[in-house]
Amino acid sequence: MKHVNNVSPASGLLAHSYYFINQFISCKMKEQAKEILTDNNYGGYTIPSPKLYPFQWNWDSGFIALGLSYFDKQNAYDEIRNMFKGQWSNGMLPHINFHHLDENYFPGPDVWGTAECQWAPRGLATSGITQPPVFGFVLSMMAGRLAGTDSAFDNLLKEIYPKIVAFHRYLYTQRDPYNEGLVYISHNWESGTDNSPLWDEVLDAIDTTNVRDVSALRRDLKNVDASQRPTNENYKRYIFLVDLFRSFKYDDSKIFEATPFAVQDVLFNSMLIRSNEGLIHLAGLLGEDSAEIQKWNEKTIAAINKKCWNEADGFYYDYNLKNKKQILVKVSNGFMPLFAGACSQHQSQILRNNLIQSFRAGNYMLCSSCAVDEPEFNPLKYWRGPVWINVNWMLYHGLQRYGFAAEAEQVKKDTLHLIEQTGFYEYFDPRFETKDEDRGLGGDHFSWTAALYLDFVDKAVKEM
Ligand code: DGY
Repeated sequence: MKHVNNVSPASGLLAHSYYFINQFISCKMKEQAKEILTDNNYGGYTIPSPKLYPFQWNWDSGFIALGLSYFDKQNAYDEIRNMFKGQWSNGMLPHINFHHLDENYFPGPDVWGTAECQWAPRGLATSGITQPPVFGFVLSMMAGRLAGTDSAFDNLLKEIYPKIVAFHRYLYTQRDPYNEGLVYISHNWESGTDNSPLWDEVLDAIDTTNVRDVSALRRDLKNVDASQRPTNENYKRYIFLVDLFRSFKYDDSKIFEATPFAVQDVLFNSMLIRSNEGLIHLAGLLGEDSAEIQKWNEKTIAAINKKCWNEADGFYYDYNLKNKKQILVKVSNGFMPLFAGACSQHQSQILRNNLIQSFRAGNYMLCSSCAVDEPEFNPLKYWRGPVWINVNWMLYHGLQRYGFAAEAEQVKKDTLHLIEQTGFYEYFDPRFETKDEDRGLGGDHFSWTAALYLDFVDKAVKEM
């Protein structure tokens, strides 16, 4: 018998065995992923993780809906509908919906006090800030499999599409004071990358002398080692900002003048671009006019390249609107223009080289949240080094989009390895030398890790 590619009978057998072992592992893990999403479901919405995050979170909910859509479409649709129940009348989509009461989280609804705000919904307490836009691309990806084949999905789409447009319109009208096409965030919690070294210079500039101490109110430290979580000093600053926004009843025009925190974040704006692109696709399916969205998108793509691209370093950096400077810290947010399709081939090649040199760096799983050669890199601390599965998922799509097939496969391989050998954790120690059983960090039983695992293995997302 002739063997193609010089595969000997013995190695062929070995390859077959590996294939079946892998299939077995992924079947077992898929069942576990579904169990996690089912356990974390509170009847129509899914909490990110049982102990740390007991409510519905905005960007988590988008990734979760995508995972749910593979095995429980009704719950996926409910997830999205319940997220938009929290939407404010000015279009703002809050970062947390407090659908039920739970003492195990700080800051809860009493701290946000959004009932005093004219735009907040009545009958559902929410937070008063937002998170990166996910629903445009999530629904667009789901539409690739479900539009026209499932009438419940088509109904959802008709209902939610205008709400996503209203959210983006809020961002372009209320969070872009100089009409540049770049949206600013006013709190590190709005970035989703809460404790990234990106925020250090802005937060350090907040004097905490007369700021209330909230250390005794924190609940996160009951479940996670304090050395892996933000400091008490920084929690003071987080709550200082919340108290400030509340004092203006969440009126963005007043907040912008007063807040020390106004950053045009690369991750947030890249996800906005990718969500705009998703909306343009959905508008086509619905027969809606997408001219306004196309205009927004062209402007944001031009602006992110003008203000955030740093030619000397070959990297995208956040822009601090308060001191009018780029924040020169290399973090994984800088790769997200790949996901957005916002960079040129030339820029994409430079980003790819950065990924290999400063993040892979010969000894680290892809993709650490902070470059390993940054002084602030810490392989164990929340957003200051560990790998996050949602970032890997966006990076995977971005690398594929620009034709970096081998690098995309490496990201996928590392992602599956981390989950299959360690578990469904919130984040992971990226160092090669760490034993797999010791890599899991933050919350366990983490919903988006489970949801995106399903998307990675079930794949896949054929859109447009
Ligand atoms: C937290 O509480 O750490 C959240 O990520 C903020 O939304």
